[in-house]
Amino acid sequence: MSNIGSYDERVKNFKWSLAEQELEYKDGDVINIGWYCSDRICEKGLANKTALIWEGRSPENLKKYTFNDLRLKSNTIGAFLKNQGISDGDRVCLFMDKVPELYLGLLGILKIGAVAQPLFSAFGDESLFVRLENAGTKAIITQKKHAGKVQKILDKLPNLEKIIIVDYDGRKPLREKEIAFDLEGSTPVEKLDIFPTKAESHSLLHYTSGTTGQPKGVKHVHYSLISQYLTTKWVLDLQPDDIYWCTADPGWVTGTSYGIIGPWSLGITSCVMDSGFSAEAWYAFMQRHKVTMWYSAPTAIRSLMKAGDESVKKFDLSSLRHLASVGEPLNAEAVIWSEKVFGKPFFDTYWQTETGSMMICNYPDMKVKPGSMGKAFPGLTAAILDDKTLEPITEHNKPGLIAFLPDWPACMRTYWNNEETFNKKFSKGWYLSGDKSTIDKDGYFWFVGRDDDVINTGGHLVSPFEVESALLEHEAVAESAVVAKPDQVNMEVVKAFVTLNPGWEAGDELELKIMNFIRKKLSPLAMPQEIEYMDKLPKTRSGKIMRRLLHAKEWGEEIGDTSTLEDD
Ligand code: WTA
Repeated sequence: MSNIGSYDERVKNFKWSLAEQELEYKDGDVINIGWYCSDRICEKGLANKTALIWEGRSPENLKKYTFNDLRLKSNTIGAFLKNQGISDGDRVCLFMDKVPELYLGLLGILKIGAVAQPLFSAFGDESLFVRLENAGTKAIITQKKHAGKVQKILDKLPNLEKIIIVDYDGRKPLREKEIAFDLEGSTPVEKLDIFPTKAESHSLLHYTSGTTGQPKGVKHVHYSLISQYLTTKWVLDLQPDDIYWCTADPGWVTGTSYGIIGPWSLGITSCVMDSGFSAEAWYAFMQRHKVTMWYSAPTAIRSLMKAGDESVKKFDLSSLRHLASVGEPLNAEAVIWSEKVFGKPFFDTYWQTETGSMMICNYPDMKVKPGSMGKAFPGLTAAILDDKTLEPITEHNKPGLIAFLPDWPACMRTYWNNEETFNKKFSKGWYLSGDKSTIDKDGYFWFVGRDDDVINTGGHLVSPFEVESALLEHEAVAESAVVAKPDQVNMEVVKAFVTLNPGWEAGDELELKIMNFIRKKLSPLAMPQEIEYMDKLPKTRSGKIMRRLLHAKEWGEEIGDTSTLEDD
């Protein structure tokens, strides 16, 4: 029997207070995610249960942590941060590979009431800078291999007081503001005063890219636990004996909401693999740890498909019980392939950094329609709105904007220092997701596309504006426009169009130079696959570059209305 039982029954009788009761939380109580994910699980008698199975680059590099270890080690990190002058509300960035300190550190930060700001360790110094500056980050926890990037931008970050290095080996002297912290070598802190955070206390700050402007810091609060707990239980269907693997990095919201908070608040054993992607390495990892529940993303699934069915057959994956996916459109072929090779489909889930928790999902008891995102989570009011009137569309299979009534616990509370953009996400009482979909006669949602120019490459949102700005900083580039181009595995990849300043010669050599120049500024995920030279870029009469035309050209689509295109 699945946790959700009958989807239709749950819809009829739904109240968020169901989750509140299970978590023994009442309105006005203290609610601290760090405590819920460790101390409370110990109090429930699961102190000696394995919470984290961590593997580094090789299987021999294995560490296991019980829920009591989570409790003690997050206490130790929390106490260390407090000693360093970090207090409630301060932003603390986690800038690490998927090492244990990242997971334990997140709980430690939350326990002292500070705000966790996880960022991908692959970010270059420029990407790191804009996010630390925007957040006014006070401390950053990092590894020595990434500390150089912080040093480079330190002069421009007056609020950054501490650079905490978790793997300092004494070989080189510590630099300005650096301080070493050795979690394994520290005396465990048995008792830590958990900061009495309330429902609306700030918990996490996740950065996400929009079409224009700098990345936006999405503010989440401790009450988001209510949504994350229940969606994990009902959609991922985690059961006490499960071995769960969420492949996402906590630099991305999936890696925190469902890589940390969801499973641990339920007392579930979770695995982490801190190495790059390879189909056989992934299968071997799941075989070794007898993974039962696997939450991944379409690009990874398509890469596994590409590696072939023979790869799957080399491994015993009979432990797998349930599979789910998030982040980009999950094509029907991938679902059908999964049924063929794993004997079960991937259950698609749709949500966003801003929503904090799953919104439209496929549930264990419900028929999967390959290619569909499923139905709205119980309790949510979801609709497809006409893009002009913002009135709900009742007709089946007609595309419109995906919108929700903003009354679920994990909804973002604002964009950090950007109330204006936040307010634009709401209209006529709806939260506007910025995505388009249809609904079929059975109430299933079918993703159509984004309603903006943001590129979703392999599940990572890339702002064309950020890439265009980086290109413009190169002396050869006069103008730039960045759009998505189709790709078999990543669905979309980044493509740049540029015009050159006088005196520069278009060619492969210059392309390489420009690529090397922007590589230092952007994350590898945002790097264009190709730069195309143009004599001029299509523009509106008011001088705005029309990405839409370049996009249509790449996708072989009809160009549509060009009445605003400038004259020759
Ligand atoms: C896209 C991810 C199609 C969508 C947790 C959304 C999806 C954006 C799906 C959010 C899905 C996410 N099918 N598209 N199942 N899930 N998306 O903020 O465009 O990184 O708005 O959060 O990814 O991406 P974000």
